[in-house]
Amino acid sequence: MLKDKNIILGITGSIAAYKIANLASMLKKEGANVEVIMTKNATEFITPLTFETLTGNKCYTDTFDRDFKFEVEHISLAKKADVCLVAPASANVIGKVSNGIADDMLTTTIMAMKCPVIFSPAMNTNMFENAIVQDNIEKLKFFNYEVIEPAKGYLACGDTGAGKMPDPEVLYEYIEKALSPKDLVGKKIVVTAGPTQESLDPVRYLTNHSTGKMGCAIAKAAAFRGAEVTLISGQMQAKAPDCVKNVNVVSAQDMFEAVKEAFPSADIIIKSAAVADYTPENFVDHKIKKKDEDMSIPLKRTEDILKWLGDNKREDQIIVGFAMETDNVIENSRAKLSKKNADMIVANSLRTDGAGFGTDTNVVTIITEEVDEELPKMSKFDVANEIINRILEIEK
Ligand code: CTP
Repeated sequence: MLKDKNIILGITGSIAAYKIANLASMLKKEGANVEVIMTKNATEFITPLTFETLTGNKCYTDTFDRDFKFEVEHISLAKKADVCLVAPASANVIGKVSNGIADDMLTTTIMAMKCPVIFSPAMNTNMFENAIVQDNIEKLKFFNYEVIEPAKGYLACGDTGAGKMPDPEVLYEYIEKALSPKDLVGKKIVVTAGPTQESLDPVRYLTNHSTGKMGCAIAKAAAFRGAEVTLISGQMQAKAPDCVKNVNVVSAQDMFEAVKEAFPSADIIIKSAAVADYTPENFVDHKIKKKDEDMSIPLKRTEDILKWLGDNKREDQIIVGFAMETDNVIENSRAKLSKKNADMIVANSLRTDGAGFGTDTNVVTIITEEVDEELPKMSKFDVANEIINRILEIEK
């Protein structure tokens, strides 16, 4: 998603400026072209050389720098930018932009921009709560700039309260969101993620290695593209994205109940959860004590939720399943497509390097009635976006 995108980072005078070095490096690693503009005050906290080393680009600090190329730099930067993040954004720069003042490289560039511009205010709590600053922030929002709510916590000035710049990982997500097309506005999407747990007794349960990362990536990508997302998740390691409604479940039966409830109002349902196929025949309400002989546990089938969805779907609904296989990936996945009456199966093999449980990347083949399309290895977030692109192609 970030590859070859032109991302402008505007840095102003705040101690949080040092954290942006990490962000610049994260963006660069994903293949983005990162250009940094610093106000004079920002250069007191961190040097332009740090960013030049990390981004491979000249860091801009002054509109009248004689080393600049012939073009009018602030205009050409503004023209090519896909997104701009001003972080940390001081009260001063917020005040200037919201009141139309453009008197340095950063503010003149912002003024000439047509792309999304995001501000991440970072300052002392009393400054942040000052009515003038709050009024200026409201003005920015009114003019369609995105303003990130500062985190609460211990601030460098010794105070505790609102005014802390969120971590680079959070800022990174705002950039991803700004770069996402808004082609799912008005759509309701249900995503399932993570493993289920099937209790045996009050101490033990049966489960699998799913971490929920792929499902969370799909939920996040869909929400960034404007959908109203319900994420129905088992007890997963991955953190549910903040921008979705999260319904927590434990067992396959709980997941089935939650899916049935969300089903009627959903346009698209994506079942990436690793649902147990079997559950103990009986739940024993006390701890099962060991004995000297071997033991076996009778299991019964759970409901196949994907099949239930396939059998009950309306004409206008799209049902997508996953298939995690070790052998005969395409053949087995295609069989699931027809057996479960799904519109698409996203197949992945546990034997492929870079795919499977807990990885940050995935290698999938998208299977529909018409095509088998193998996608190259990419991040789970990029895979999520590709799945959504293919869903939009089959949309009824
Ligand atoms: N699935 C489901 N309910 C179940 C089991 C699986 O909804 N009780 C869904 C999964 O969420 C996934 C798809 O079915 O989208 C395929 O899951 P998978 O475990 O690969 O296949 P199974 O149908 O369980 O078949 P098999 O065990 O033979 O591979």
